[in-house]
Amino acid sequence: MKYYRFLLPAFLLLSIIGRAQTKLTSFSPGAIWPDDKGVHINAHGGGILYNDGVYYWFGEHKIAGDAGNRAMVGVHCYSSKDLYNWKDEGISLSVSPDTTNDIAKGCVLERPKVVYNKKTKKYVMWFHLELLGKGYSAARAGVAVSDKVIGPYKFIKSYRPNPGQTPFYPALTPEGDKINCVNPTHETDKFFCRDLPGGQMARDMTVFVDDDGKAYHVFSSEENYTLDLAELTPDYTGHTGKFIRIYIGHQTEAPALFKRNGIYYMIGSGCTGWAPNAARWFSAKSIWGPWTYHGNPCQGPDSQITYGGQSTHVLPVAGKRDAFIFIADKWAPKDAIDGRYLWLPISFKGDDIEINWVDNWNLDVFKK
Ligand code: GAL
Repeated sequence: MKYYRFLLPAFLLLSIIGRAQTKLTSFSPGAIWPDDKGVHINAHGGGILYNDGVYYWFGEHKIAGDAGNRAMVGVHCYSSKDLYNWKDEGISLSVSPDTTNDIAKGCVLERPKVVYNKKTKKYVMWFHLELLGKGYSAARAGVAVSDKVIGPYKFIKSYRPNPGQTPFYPALTPEGDKINCVNPTHETDKFFCRDLPGGQMARDMTVFVDDDGKAYHVFSSEENYTLDLAELTPDYTGHTGKFIRIYIGHQTEAPALFKRNGIYYMIGSGCTGWAPNAARWFSAKSIWGPWTYHGNPCQGPDSQITYGGQSTHVLPVAGKRDAFIFIADKWAPKDAIDGRYLWLPISFKGDDIEINWVDNWNLDVFKK
């Protein structure tokens, strides 16, 4: 009888040892990635914010089955100091039980990205929103804010960006390269012109904050044919009306931006739904372009399908030079919660980039 009193301490000790044993020291792209509770991380289509020495990973919380392709819960947040081990911080933005709310439970709420605004001291979350029961026809950008990094975030509004605005063109842009709704040049111009009064469609997206504190929203527009890169207002919660169109008519999705040595880089994908396709990358000396297309950065077997994944974010590793991690989702549309994460190091050949598959790796691949 008396050894019952040892059961609890023994159990506690074993669970501590169990946890210590599961401490991760490397990345295994595509594998189940347990959080601090031993549960596979649930933050799909995500992005990562580095804040005060801690990384915060925000992504779509998915449920099992194909119902998981819709937002039944909201945006999930995890935190980490080492990028391998992630603590579950709970739901940062919850969907609403009110079916008339823009972010009603069962809507499509994808690719959330959080940035910090130094002036307002607020955390701002942008995401792609599709209204409940309307398929993918709404094509809106949604925004929510919080005073605390992990939330709770308060939903503010959703809309189609830049109504009534024509693109910004750098000086000396030939007239023939500018949008002309009377005499359109590209097939996709008709979608741009159709949506001019009400605002441009906004689907797959990211947000990028430049060194000068200006933030940009990059999104698939014009029925996914063209990418728009648009300036956000100083408080990051709206669009200023200044934007450019990138790689017109070529269906780029899943944009992820980063900057190195004064050059802007963007990695994206083609447009084949949940099925993987070849990644593509671009670079520019100015955020306003011109953006040069460079083809597929991935090398080796399965590089034509991005190793089964689709880009979502590029993470600069704090305190290391030239250390950028390509982050992709390996979708599991039939059982959405089982989606996996592919984290791979980006290598530089001069100003060019390359991505190679690695089964298992750690941050030592980057020089100090
Ligand atoms: C993908 C897109 C995902 C999701 C999916 C739906 O192309 O990148 O975020 O929208 O289509 O089919």
